[in-house]
Amino acid sequence: MSTLKINGFQINNICCIGAGYVGGPTMSVIAKYCPDIIINVVDVNTDRIKSWNGDYKYLPIFEPGLSEIVKEVRGKNLFFTTDVENSIKKADLVFISVNTPIKTSGIGAGEASDLRWVESSAREISKFAVGHTIVVEKSTLPVKTAEIIKSILLSSEQNFNNDDKTKTFSVLSNPEFLAEGTAINDLVNPDRVLIGGEDNESIDALKQIYSKWINQEKIITTNLWSSELSKLIANAFLAQRISSINSVSAICEATGANVIEVAKAVGTDTRIGEKFLKPGPGFGGSCFKKDILNLVYICKSLGLNQVASYWEGIININNWQQDRIYKIVVDKLYGNISGKRIVILGFSFKADTNDVRNSPSIKICRQLLGEDATLIINDPKVDKKIILNEINYDNRYNYKIIYEKNISKAIENADAVLIMTEWEEYKNLDWKNLYKKMRKPSWLFDTRSIISFEIIKETDLNFWQLGNGESI
Ligand SMILES: NC(=O)c1ccc[n+]([C@@H]2O[C@H](COP(=O)([O-])OP(=O)(O)OC[C@H]3O[C@@H](n4cnc5c(N)ncnc54)[C@H](O)[C@@H]3O)[C@@H](O)[C@H]2O)c1
Repeated sequence: MSTLKINGFQINNICCIGAGYVGGPTMSVIAKYCPDIIINVVDVNTDRIKSWNGDYKYLPIFEPGLSEIVKEVRGKNLFFTTDVENSIKKADLVFISVNTPIKTSGIGAGEASDLRWVESSAREISKFAVGHTIVVEKSTLPVKTAEIIKSILLSSEQNFNNDDKTKTFSVLSNPEFLAEGTAINDLVNPDRVLIGGEDNESIDALKQIYSKWINQEKIITTNLWSSELSKLIANAFLAQRISSINSVSAICEATGANVIEVAKAVGTDTRIGEKFLKPGPGFGGSCFKKDILNLVYICKSLGLNQVASYWEGIININNWQQDRIYKIVVDKLYGNISGKRIVILGFSFKADTNDVRNSPSIKICRQLLGEDATLIINDPKVDKKIILNEINYDNRYNYKIIYEKNISKAIENADAVLIMTEWEEYKNLDWKNLYKKMRKPSWLFDTRSIISFEIIKETDLNFWQLGNGESI
């Protein structure tokens, strides 16, 4: 078997700790392009591992193109397992790809990253690793986390018994920039791969892996801290663009301008660019909010309070946009939605993913339920159980939430339809016929600007489109 040989250090075997939205797809793509490397993806969540090993149609994560790649490599050089110990023992390189949510209690609650899963991964690596192991931070982490990881690993280097003095580690930062919904394409054709570290031999080893399918020029190397910080800053900049255009959507509604036209006019300036200027109900997903909050926490810890409040503003606008939409819906329905039937089209935080973490739908649904509305919820990829878990975890809204797979049936006798996710199947619905099934006066709220106003004009539907000053 041929292997990657860099100045004497060979990478034959990789372990990835964390079989989530990042670990699963990332390792599948590496396995596809590096058929000579054995990759074990480990997780403490036995159900998740079971479904990674189960039917390709029901992998734990939905991403276009993912199941095809898993089918190609699973059981050949890609394995999903709960055997953390042996997977680490065999590995020359270990990716840490575990969750790094915001702390919910204690010092920094609500802002700082909860690093317990990163620390436990480092402790497992330090305990089980054999020989020289490259440890790669794939999770998004506060700047300087590598110091913590190094300190845990170093203690095991020192404690290791004298028979094997070769237990050594090298720590790299290699943050992941994939976006859910386009993860496979992002991994196959990334804008860049970022590797931060101090040890050139290890950097080269990781570089060799990526250069199997990615152009060398796209592989950027920096010091550890620049790499860790760049990931947080990249997400902060992306979220900033969403909050910027969302703030503009409100100005458009108040003035008769159209945010889509404004975004196009502004985005064609090459200094600004057209990407990530889509207005909507605010960003969701597991990353933007937590990464900005973490950035805010870091700034405050460094005494940079002005900088902290600048970035905090991005989150404030995001929350405000969701509150604004909820209030508009209630207001248009005569200020009273008690007992009214509102159809929610889309529960995932964006199209082409089944991820609901921080989805704007969660907050808006709970607000509408709080006003005693009945919600009929549809999503092509999110299961009923997950939806109920998110909005009815305290069983407060039993009988007020109906899950309906059939859109036409969902709309029967509805007072309003609220489009929350830009799924392809919602773009060309036959409103000329569908609206006839609704109770009059009926409303369509389009928070994703996916409906043609011209078509709606041919119906008696009342129409509100986010950022469209011409809609009612
Ligand atoms: N989801 C994204 O779009 C995305 C994109 C880029 C970066 N990131 C970052 O990547 C990291 C992972 O994100 P994710 O979305 O894949 O999270 P996830 O919650 O989907 O997956 C993390 C997995 O790690 C497992 N885990 C935790 N501790 C473990 C341990 N000690 N041993 C074995 N398994 C363990 C969990 O059970 C879980 O299945 C986060 O830091 C996130 O910020 C996420």
